[in-house]
Amino acid sequence: MQRLMLIGFLLCIGVIPFCLCPGGEDHGSKVGGSCIEHERRALLAIRADIFDPGEWLSSWTGQDCCQWRGVGCDDTTGHVVKLDLKYPSAYDLIYGTGEIPEPSKVNPSISSLIHLRYLDLSMNNFSCAPIPQFIGSLMHLEYLNLSMAWFNGPIPRQIGNLSSLRYLDLRGGYPFLDKWSGYVEYYPITLRVNDLEWLSRITSLQYLDLSFANLSMASNWLDEINMHTSLLALKLFYTGLPGIPSTLQHVNFTSLTVLDLSYNAISAVPHWLLNISSLVQLDLQGCLFHGRLSTVADRLGNLNHLKHLDLCRNKITGGISQSLWNNTHLEYLDLSENQISGHAAKMFGNPSQLRLLALFGNQISGEISENMGNHSHLEALYLSENRISGEIPKGMGNILNLEELDLSDNQIKGCIPEEILRNSSQLRHLSLRSNQISGEIPKSMWNLLNLEQLDLSSNHVRGGIPETVGNLVHLQLLNLSFNNITGQIQYQKVWASYPNS
Ligand SMILES: *[C@@H]1O[C@H](CO)[C@@H](O)[C@H](O)[C@H]1NC(C)=O
Ligand SMILES: *[C@@H]1O[C@H](CO)[C@@H](O)[C@H](O)[C@H]1NC(C)=O
Ligand SMILES: *[C@@H]1O[C@H](CO)[C@@H](O)[C@H](O)[C@H]1NC(C)=O
Ligand SMILES: *[C@@H]1O[C@H](CO)[C@@H](O)[C@H](O)[C@H]1NC(C)=O
Ligand SMILES: *[C@@H]1O[C@H](CO)[C@@H](O)[C@H](O)[C@H]1NC(C)=O
Ligand SMILES: *[C@@H]1O[C@H](CO)[C@@H](O)[C@H](O)[C@H]1NC(C)=O
Ligand SMILES: *[C@@H]1O[C@H](CO)[C@@H](O)[C@H](O)[C@H]1NC(C)=O
Ligand SMILES: *[C@@H]1O[C@H](CO)[C@@H](O)[C@H](O)[C@H]1NC(C)=O
Ligand SMILES: *[C@@H]1O[C@H](CO)[C@@H](O)[C@H](O)[C@H]1NC(C)=O
Ligand SMILES: *[C@@H]1O[C@H](CO)[C@@H](O)[C@H](O)[C@H]1NC(C)=O
Ligand SMILES: *[C@@H]1O[C@H](CO)[C@@H](O)[C@H](O)[C@H]1NC(C)=O
Repeated sequence: MQRLMLIGFLLCIGVIPFCLCPGGEDHGSKVGGSCIEHERRALLAIRADIFDPGEWLSSWTGQDCCQWRGVGCDDTTGHVVKLDLKYPSAYDLIYGTGEIPEPSKVNPSISSLIHLRYLDLSMNNFSCAPIPQFIGSLMHLEYLNLSMAWFNGPIPRQIGNLSSLRYLDLRGGYPFLDKWSGYVEYYPITLRVNDLEWLSRITSLQYLDLSFANLSMASNWLDEINMHTSLLALKLFYTGLPGIPSTLQHVNFTSLTVLDLSYNAISAVPHWLLNISSLVQLDLQGCLFHGRLSTVADRLGNLNHLKHLDLCRNKITGGISQSLWNNTHLEYLDLSENQISGHAAKMFGNPSQLRLLALFGNQISGEISENMGNHSHLEALYLSENRISGEIPKGMGNILNLEELDLSDNQIKGCIPEEILRNSSQLRHLSLRSNQISGEIPKSMWNLLNLEQLDLSSNHVRGGIPETVGNLVHLQLLNLSFNNITGQIQYQKVWASYPNS
């Protein structure tokens, strides 16, 4: 569950607001309030090939196509300049909700909408068809989004003709939750790139997402990227990059704020990366690089705008030193599933701005000290699957906004501190599974009205469950198995307290 959430975070952060600035460049043949007739006919042809069970495009009737949902026209010329055919209720392969999109086709009539500046076909199902080459004739495009649309095959080099493009999102990858492993997996439908030479002609590019495309043949990828001085976000998640050059003569793309190179073979954090001092978000998940955490941290210490650092699933060793917290801007730090060792008491201490700290699946030992409470902005703390012992420190009661706390699969003893439950009233997920927690469940547990998941299984907790458990109307999981808990849950009470029942 937590792994899923981490990937979810990855997908959410770093969205750059898009502003389509109108420009009056054209002399159209606009008739009254309605749109241009041949463009209207083109739109109807496009619609005929798009899977839509009626709901989203039902407004596509009548003469004035400029009023249709997802269509935008230029005020002066009347030409269609925006087409948003994103399928908003597409099936979510992780959560299993939404509608399964049946196959659609990109109708060639799109190429007659030559004034388009904004085109979004994301979240449809083009059932593994290639991206049509005629997209490259839409010369005025500033925004092109073909992400998550089941395209397959080579990325046409004609896209390089789109010299006004600022946003290019060709993200593939269709995530689904493997119920057995709990991991997010991806369908292997991929776009392919043999070289990125075409990219050099799109000089004003600000946002580029080629995640899941196979770039293994693009040997000069970094040189091509390095020409893009206005680039703000670069996402190359799982692209089979043929190595990350450790040297680069001069970094030109120093405006970059978001860089995602996760799941590529990177042997170390390259030196040139440190010159991109504007970086706010850096994702290097699953790159399997080795190295001591102190070395990595010292190196990244130069990036003093960094707020989000994801190094999960690498082979980082050594302990956490206090200097890791010297970067006072850091809000999101994921170091889980590495080989980090050392004593918990020495790791946490200096105050930080951290909102998420994930260290699950490492080899951290010893006790968590009272200093943990100095990370008082934490909303999520994951320390499961380590070798942490001792008691849960009362000082954690300083973390007033804590929503998720996972200390499962450690060797923690003692009682659940009442102080924490009283102060962290926002808790939604609490897991202390597989530890040696004893004593009774404190009464204040049942006052945590936001609680969705409570897992105290496999401990030495004793006592009963009060009727007030029925107040926890958001509870989805309550696992108290393998303890010494007696009595019965008052089901009547539970159901009676649900709204509308
Ligand atoms: C997309 O369509 C193909 C058939 O062309 C189908 O196999 C696939 O499951 C569909 N994708 C989704 C997300 O439904
Ligand atoms: C698009 O680019 C190709 C080269 O990649 C070129 O031959 C072609 O003329 C261009 N097409 C248009 C419409 O500009
Ligand atoms: C492209 O579309 C996807 C899915 O609709 C969306 O999540 C993503 O933010 C879009 N990309 C850009 C650059 O706006
Ligand atoms: C990427 O392309 C290369 C060369 O065509 C191929 O050998 C490799 O298997 C592809 N990788 C993936 C993950 O499909
Ligand atoms: C990095 O920045 C330093 C100082 O501004 C400069 O001397 C150096 O050449 C830069 N290195 C690269 C690879 O851009
Ligand atoms: C970018 O840097 C390289 C050296 O790495 C340099 O040769 C090139 O001229 C620069 N390109 C631009 C567009 O600034
Ligand atoms: C981190 O800050 C401490 C003082 O709080 C300082 O002594 C130490 O040198 C700093 N470490 C780094 C790597 O900057
Ligand atoms: C961290 O917290 C402890 C007690 O909880 C306190 O004594 C210590 O001064 C704090 N450290 C810093 C650097 O604020
Ligand atoms: C609980 O929060 C209050 C501030 O709201 C603070 O004074 C108190 O020290 C906290 N309790 C613990 C155990 O940290
Ligand atoms: C409850 O906890 C036990 C022991 O940790 C585990 O075996 C079981 O699968 C859990 N049940 C649920 C529904 O999570
Ligand atoms: C469980 O609790 C009861 C009293 O509440 C006690 O008598 C018994 O010894 C406990 N069993 C274990 C295994 O701790």
